[in-house]
Amino acid sequence: MSTVDLPLLPLGKGRDLDAERGVECPGDLPPASDPHLVERARAAKEALGDKVFILGHHYQRDEVIQFADVTGDSFKLARDAAARPDAEYIVFCGVHFMAESADILTSERQQVVLPDLAAGCSMADMARLRQVEDAWDALADAGIQDLVVPVTYMNSSADIKAFCGRNGGLVCTSSNADVALEWAMAQRPGVDAKILFLPDQHLGRNTAVLKMGLTVDDCVVWDPMKKNGGLTPEELQAARFILWKGHCSVHGRFSAAVVDELREQHPGINILVHPECTHEVCLKADLIGSTEFIIKTIEAAPAGSIWAIGTELNLVNRLRTDHPDKSIVFLDRNVCFCSTMNRIDLPHLVWALENLVAGNVVNRIEVDPDTERDALVALQRMLDLPGKSHRD
Ligand code: 13P
Ligand code: SF4
Repeated sequence: MSTVDLPLLPLGKGRDLDAERGVECPGDLPPASDPHLVERARAAKEALGDKVFILGHHYQRDEVIQFADVTGDSFKLARDAAARPDAEYIVFCGVHFMAESADILTSERQQVVLPDLAAGCSMADMARLRQVEDAWDALADAGIQDLVVPVTYMNSSADIKAFCGRNGGLVCTSSNADVALEWAMAQRPGVDAKILFLPDQHLGRNTAVLKMGLTVDDCVVWDPMKKNGGLTPEELQAARFILWKGHCSVHGRFSAAVVDELREQHPGINILVHPECTHEVCLKADLIGSTEFIIKTIEAAPAGSIWAIGTELNLVNRLRTDHPDKSIVFLDRNVCFCSTMNRIDLPHLVWALENLVAGNVVNRIEVDPDTERDALVALQRMLDLPGKSHRD
């Protein structure tokens, strides 16, 4: 059986690039060229035994994911974080907002480590607390604040989650956004509730329109760089969804034109995308869902089926390797790694683990107690949601 052959260009493959240091690491960061990195990581993990629990997001590099005790999407990892209360150290191979959530969801005694502090998320950085508080005040000025429930995507900083917890809202992930939004709508019985959706406009719009029966015209976009979000009080009053103007720089790259091209080149191809993709792309897709959903869909797909996947490239490459009986292509003409996810590499993991063996907790992620208390309210509301999304 022949497979569709679109070239993938794995970053740095076959070359010995210097390790990218990200932020300063106290002590010696092993060079990426060290041939003993795998052994060193294995030895450090073994020495730590049950004291360490390593979580790995699906977008992590293969070199890192091989050491994860559990892998998952943001929702699964949020649940899994609390699954090993005896582990003293939680090493989070993912990005900063995920490590913050792990700190919030684990006990006081447990310490969360992010192997490179430069592993942030450009989307999470698009909503700052001050900006969100200004928007909230503007909703009060427009006379609608009482109708609005704030909902934040997991991909946001802990203080934005805390804001939602304080103001009657909750957190959602890409695998439960529809259920979370139904919960939020039900918080204002008897009236047409409104949602302030932070910070990913695409996940908000895709869920509102494709899952909840609203229209694109029910949504407005709040631009934090413009006065009053660039919206009139009348526009705010008429809207059901107020979408924060944020996006994922990785998923924002996929285009409807490439979907058309691939359909023409490969009749019968299935287009499978993450809901952080634009609405245009999602409208043209056959299936939309979280990273966990994408993996399960490919696992269940029949041999010989053809798939184009619109999500981060580490995951798409892994799916290609794990499923040689299926044709899997990437839904972009160019390389599309998440640069911040990629910052967690083997040298940083070895550095973090060996420091733990030596009794030094490096790169600890610690959310301040007030923020933690309110963010936990918003996270717990999500974890308590009934059932699961129809996506999973
Ligand atoms: P999920 O893990 O929820 O699928 O989200 C993808 C993502 O962009 C994480 O940063
Ligand atoms: Fe952030 Fe997008 Fe990277 Fe996820 S893939 S960490 S949303 S930039």
